[in-house]
Amino acid sequence: MNIDFLHDATAMTDQIVAWRRDLHQHPELAFQETRTASIVAQELQTLGLEVQSGVGQTGVVGILGGISDGPTVLLRFDMDALPITEENETEYVSKNKGVMHACGHDGHTAIGLAVAHLLNRYRGRLHGQVKLIFQPAEEIAQGAQAMIEDGVLDDPVPDVALGLHLWNAIPVGQVGITRGTMMAGADIFEITIQGKGGHGAAPHQTRDPLLAAAHVVNALQSVVSRNIDPLDSAVLSVTSLNAGTAFNVIPPAAHLKGTLRTYKHSVRTVAASRLVEIVEGISHALGCESKLDITPLTPPLVNDPEVTTLVSQAIAPYIEPNALLPDLRTMGAEDMAIFLDRIPGCFILVGSANDRRNLNYPHHHPRFDFDEAALPLGAAILASAVAAYVIPG
Ligand code: NI
Repeated sequence: MNIDFLHDATAMTDQIVAWRRDLHQHPELAFQETRTASIVAQELQTLGLEVQSGVGQTGVVGILGGISDGPTVLLRFDMDALPITEENETEYVSKNKGVMHACGHDGHTAIGLAVAHLLNRYRGRLHGQVKLIFQPAEEIAQGAQAMIEDGVLDDPVPDVALGLHLWNAIPVGQVGITRGTMMAGADIFEITIQGKGGHGAAPHQTRDPLLAAAHVVNALQSVVSRNIDPLDSAVLSVTSLNAGTAFNVIPPAAHLKGTLRTYKHSVRTVAASRLVEIVEGISHALGCESKLDITPLTPPLVNDPEVTTLVSQAIAPYIEPNALLPDLRTMGAEDMAIFLDRIPGCFILVGSANDRRNLNYPHHHPRFDFDEAALPLGAAILASAVAAYVIPG
């Protein structure tokens, strides 16, 4: 008997939307997802899953065991919101001022609960087990690591890891499932240029760090344009520059921050070494000292080719043939990459925009919202992907 997960998920739409809207009204920041986590834990317990809370501070793990041995499939969902003041005027607008689900993680959590329900119905046909993990702190790229340090990848060790992200860059109905590298590895860099401050009218008595900072920002633009192979991808953005407090004072120091995004280790190495050379060289040439810290945030997100093929086949019946996008990539980063660095798997981008209804603001925008028709579709997609591993046809 073939299972129609889309039929089952569609029948659950009211419940999934209710979960999502409740979570949307009560968003919680990274590592503070206690209300969200307790709702998740309670739902999973009600279904009879083996539940563990407090994994990676506020994370929740639920294990759905089958009737016999088989593969362990890890399903990962994220729960955290962002420090953004919501500007939408919906009936389910955030009640937590200054905090907003502006990335769709409320939808991911609701989808996770729905997938638990969908798969639980077929527990009697399940060979293997499903490890559902609800992760904190994705937005600061610390939650996956925290859960791994708390042993989330041990006992049982997952054979495959799956996850999804609602994606407003594409309309609802379209689904991005890309083999190989799909999202960038991200680094944060912080620069301090130390000079010697003084009177704005006596620059010859100073060593101006602001001038050095301006040259550094300009010269860093040469890294992608002149040091990286044009057929490779990289982003190097200076996103913060602070120096000085008064019009007649040359400040003693300037501070810069930014991000480096790459798909390949070799490209990252070239960009990072040019960053060091440019910051040191220009600072030195202009009489200043420099300090540079590069902190890795996430590795590139790489979808395992075999898993991607199997999952693409499993979800194909629920998607229009030309709506399955095999080449969707972004320079955005995701800490799901940390799981996929250890466990072969696949991360799926589920289209959620609806231009006609103005549900097309980008992620992290104060007016971000999505078409909730993506919720049952997302749940059906993940359930069928799991079934490909643990429910023999
Ligand atoms: Ni997100």
